[in-house]
Parts: sequence; structure tokens; C-alpha cells
Amino acid sequence: MSRPADWALITGAGSGIGAALAQALSARGVGVVLVGRRADRLRAVQERLAADALVVPADIASAQDRALLLTAVEARLTTGGGKLRHLVHNAGIGPPSPDFAGTDPAELERAFALNVTAPLALTQAFLPALRRAAPARILMVGAGIADRAQPGTGIYGITKKALARLFEQMVTDFAHEAHTDLPAVALFQPGLVETEGLRDHVAAAQACDLPHAAWLDAALRDGQARNAAEVADAMTAILLELPSDDFNGQVLRPGR
Ligand SMILES: NC(=O)c1ccc[n+]([C@@H]2O[C@H](COP(=O)([O-])OP(=O)(O)OC[C@H]3O[C@@H](n4cnc5c(N)ncnc54)[C@H](OP(=O)(O)O)[C@@H]3O)[C@@H](O)[C@H]2O)c1
Repeated sequence: MSRPADWALITGAGSGIGAALAQALSARGVGVVLVGRRADRLRAVQERLAADALVVPADIASAQDRALLLTAVEARLTTGGGKLRHLVHNAGIGPPSPDFAGTDPAELERAFALNVTAPLALTQAFLPALRRAAPARILMVGAGIADRAQPGTGIYGITKKALARLFEQMVTDFAHEAHTDLPAVALFQPGLVETEGLRDHVAAAQACDLPHAAWLDAALRDGQARNAAEVADAMTAILLELPSDDFNGQVLRPGR
């Protein structure tokens, strides 16, 4: 395989949207760093890729694993060449709760660590590499639930709302710092996408007897959800083709 000039780091690349994005970017010749906890799932994705890839099993909610991830990526870029041009904060969780009293604060902390703290800390860690690759792009995967409170969705909604605020903060801070080599940042709202993450969420919401479970289940049955490959193609076009002014600071969706 040829050595890619550009690399993308994708968190949550072992399944769903992240795995489809890895495939779509790889088909365009981008080297992909595949990150997630399940090594077997990452390797299965790697086997399907057209371009060079680096598998790094890591729990990105752990500061120790994030440090190991940084070391692995820096080592690969140093020995193999190429630049880290894209950072995609895709990994996310949002377990439903049966009711307010049953909303577990420990679960909220776990979701916050993955959905909010990890994108902040990974952006900080990879900022020098992204600046060396200027112009570089960061894409953060949000969720519509951030702005639509529904019963039992506090953990998912609160943390995705915080992620959206982190996106705004990064755009604001980078504009204030005014260094021309800082990355552009966008928030991507995928809408409903048929993935194992969504199916797991529906099953958990059904077990909690939550009203949105029936709606999601019906939407999946009626084919209203997009498939992950279609969403990944939209993300790839956003990362590789969208003019900078249409990317930086924008909330983007498939089909736009
Ligand atoms: N599907 C939808 O309809 C939809 C709608 C709106 C937003 N989203 C967002 O889209 C993103 C991708 O979701 P998806 O639907 O593709 O679900 P998914 O298939 O469950 O993907 C999530 C990925 O995150 C990884 N992950 C979870 N915890 C991790 C951790 N601590 N460290 C590293 N990786 C971790 C998982 O792999 P491991 O378990 O192996 O770590 C998994 O591959 C999420 O941010 C989700 O909130 C999805």
C-alpha cells in the first residue's frame, strides 16, 4: 500500500458511522487511525480499507490511553511520513434512564468523560500535529437530542449539549488566538442513522418503557434512518471538499 500524505484520526471507528467513515476516507486515499476499545472490531474494519491504516485500541475516556494513542500516532507519522489533517470526534454513548430518579450520576460522569472531556483532551493533545498539517479540520459528531429533551434521555442529551458548547468554545478560542495554522472546527449532526449503537439504544429505551423507543423502532422499520455509508460519504465530502468558510464554525448535516 502507498504511504498516504494525509491522515484522519477517527474515534469509535470499530462500528457504525465511524467504521463507514474510515472506509469512505480510505477509498479517497486518506490514511486512517482507527480508535476504539475493541481491537477485533478495529482490525475487521482495517481489513476492508483501501489505504494504509493504524489500529490503536484505546479507551479515550482514560487519560492514560489517550497518552498512549498520541505516542502511537506520533511514532507512525514520524516513521511513515504524512500529516494528521483530520480529527473526527465520533465515539459517543447515551444510555437511557427509566426516569429522573433513576438517572445514575455515575453513568452521567462516564458519558461526560467520553462525549465531552475526551474530545477536549484529544484536541489539545493532537493540536501540535494538526497545526503542522495546516489547513487541518476537526469534525465533532453531535446529536439532535441535545436540543430536544425527551423522557429518560438526560445523560445523552446533557452531554451532547455540552459537546455542542465545546464546539462553540473551540471556534471562539481559535478565532481569538488568531493563528493561521489552527484547525477549522465543525459540528456534524447525523440525524437518524441505522447502526448497532442506535439499535442498542432502542432496546435499552424499550426496556425502560420510554416513549421515544416506539418512535425510533417504527422509524427503523419504515426505513426512515439513513445508512451509515451514506452518512459517511456526506462526512467525507465535508472534510475533503467543503470550502473552508462553509466549514469553520458551522453546524453541518448529511445532504448539505
Ligand atoms: N446512529 C444515530 O442515529 C446517531 C444519531 C445522532 C448522533 N449519533 C452519534 O454518532 C456517533 C457514532 O454513533 P453510532 O451510531 O455509529 O454508534 P456505535 O456503532 O455504537 O459507535 C460508537 C463507537 O464508539 C466507540 N466507543 C464507545 N466508548 C468508547 C471509549 N470509551 N473509547 C473509545 N471508543 C469508544 C465504540 O467502540 P468500542 O465499544 O469498541 O469502544 C463504537 O465503535 C456517536 O457520537 C453518536 O452519539 C448517532
